[in-house]
Amino acid sequence: MIIAIDGPAGGGKSSTARAVAARLGITYLDTGAMYRAVTLKALRMGIAFDDDNSLGELMENTVITFNGAAPDTRVFMDGEEITEAVRNDEVTRNVSDYCARDVVRKALVSQQRSIASGLDVVCEGRDIGTVVFPDAQIKIFMTASVEQRAARRQKDFQDLGVKKSIEELIGEIRIRDTKDSNRSNSPLVKADDAIEMENTTMTLEQQIQFIVDLYNNSTINLNPKSTGVRTDD
Ligand code: DC
Repeated sequence: MIIAIDGPAGGGKSSTARAVAARLGITYLDTGAMYRAVTLKALRMGIAFDDDNSLGELMENTVITFNGAAPDTRVFMDGEEITEAVRNDEVTRNVSDYCARDVVRKALVSQQRSIASGLDVVCEGRDIGTVVFPDAQIKIFMTASVEQRAARRQKDFQDLGVKKSIEELIGEIRIRDTKDSNRSNSPLVKADDAIEMENTTMTLEQQIQFIVDLYNNSTINLNPKSTGVRTDD
């Protein structure tokens, strides 16, 4: 069973997806972290975003894995833990350019499908309900006002000890939205059958409950291998 959560940057996907996975006792797959991992490695190696040959080689020689149950899932690249490193400012500013390359997307979409194979997963990203798992049983498209999204980013940065003004963050979010929505390969769009969740005025708990309720009210059962149980069982 796949719960696909898509939406723009700062729309609240990560916190909600992590918590839903924890509540249902199923796997959390953060596909944005995978695009960030590739960006981190390319920046470290000095590979430009439009150097498809080098990016192709990088994709063949990079292993991204996740470890630990939600909400504390950690990200590893070639055995190194990069959970915090992928959230840094330089990666955040560059990831939209790297993630738009066909050579990167093709490899990561295939890895995402194999990670999820046979599991119950809450998967978040931009193209999950449209491209990666078009047959996902539950699809959510999460949005919030740009001001609210910038405020959430500001808090994330504060937690990392970085100070940024709301104006600067609104500017950065608009640039990333434009790039993510206008790229030719798998742009950010709402799947026709996704449920739109505008969460500007919703609390985190309300967002989690919204999705858990969708699951509880559906006829979908968790894979017997999953440890999760319905909260109303
Ligand atoms: O959700 P995030 O901010 O961690 O995502 C980082 C970048 O990766 C973002 O600019 C969009 C891109 N992304 C993507 O293109 N497709 C996905 N499935 C997930 C993220």
